[in-house]
Amino acid sequence: MFSDKDIAHFSNLETPFYYYDLELLQNTIKTCTNAANKYEFHVHYAMKANFNDKVINEIRQAGLGADCVSGGEVRKAIESGFENHKVVFAGVGKSDKEINYALDHNIFCFNVESLQELEVINELAAQKQKTAKVAIRINPNVDAHTHANITTGLDENKFGINSWDMLACAEILRKSANLEFIGIHFHIGSQITNLDVYKNLCVRVNEFASWFEDKGFKVGVLNVGGGLGIDYHKPDQQIPDFEAYFKIFNDFLDVKPYQEVHFELGRALVGQCASLISRVLYVKNGKKKNFVVLDAGMTELMRPALYQAYHQIENLSKKQEPATVKYDIVGPICESTDCFGKEVLLPETHRNDVFAIRSTGAYGEVMASHYNLREDIRSYTAQDF
Ligand code: LLP
Repeated sequence: MFSDKDIAHFSNLETPFYYYDLELLQNTIKTCTNAANKYEFHVHYAMKANFNDKVINEIRQAGLGADCVSGGEVRKAIESGFENHKVVFAGVGKSDKEINYALDHNIFCFNVESLQELEVINELAAQKQKTAKVAIRINPNVDAHTHANITTGLDENKFGINSWDMLACAEILRKSANLEFIGIHFHIGSQITNLDVYKNLCVRVNEFASWFEDKGFKVGVLNVGGGLGIDYHKPDQQIPDFEAYFKIFNDFLDVKPYQEVHFELGRALVGQCASLISRVLYVKNGKKKNFVVLDAGMTELMRPALYQAYHQIENLSKKQEPATVKYDIVGPICESTDCFGKEVLLPETHRNDVFAIRSTGAYGEVMASHYNLREDIRSYTAQDF
């Protein structure tokens, strides 16, 4: 919910831009860490969700670790002051250069996603006379019941090592002198709103942990990934139910006294703390459809074009007026999928009205592109006004 003062500030600025509510971010982080601390759970922030400096600064200050998915993210985490021993490096396609960078910076661990990758990390670590800590990312074949494009833990997905390769994996671990096995890692998908799927995940984690221990490996870390969803229909009801989320893992995971439970949360931490603020360039009233053309497009927020994702759209300039007209809300990009919402019921809209596209803190700014030679996207916080 924006105050009249916020809206007045927005009206004076060049659009489009992301507006970050750092107070909400701080409260979200605090709620998350309080809930996690209750069970001594460790939370890494999935940096891919948003690596805006202002955002990651809050997260680093709160003491969270960083879950990175490229050499660039590992570098960003380290240069932003995350402690090296709290940096995790996941991803199906780590290049030699990226692995070497991470080895040089003694990160906490690599979440390894294939047998071949294990061999490569061992080789590169040997060249540096180092020992690389590794967790095995296992594909548990658990359905996350989310959008197909953001499901990651099924047999047909490219992520992780499949169960039928576990014996071979154990063999490689045993003979690799420069690898130290520290635990197992899972991530079944994103924007998960049915928490029951995590119960199924816990069953699989318990099975795989026992399997490794039976083979003589000490499983020190159970990393269950992230994926906790947010309510895109209720951007003002902002903080996800971290209590309920962590409780499931406390209730359903078999955690031995020497084991740590790790999480990699992205969206749940940052999703609600930003809105994309944009201005109406044109209103086109047609026979069949009315279009609002915004100055933001899929180049600034890709999710609707890529996943038909829903984001609440508000006309801030007409906040007090009744919603009476249906509009398709589109951007200026030369693609038909450049559409933020169809048949959205809004107050009668005019050129220069200021719009907010809500819940865009996660996978918004980071997925922006320069297609159509668009300018860099700006961002502001209340401190900038
Ligand atoms: N850990 C791993 C290994 C991941 O692949 C991801 C997200 C996360 C953690 C964090 O997931 P989260 O807690 O944010 O759900 N661009 C898509 C989402 C892609 C998620 C990729 N992996 C979107 O806009 O919905």
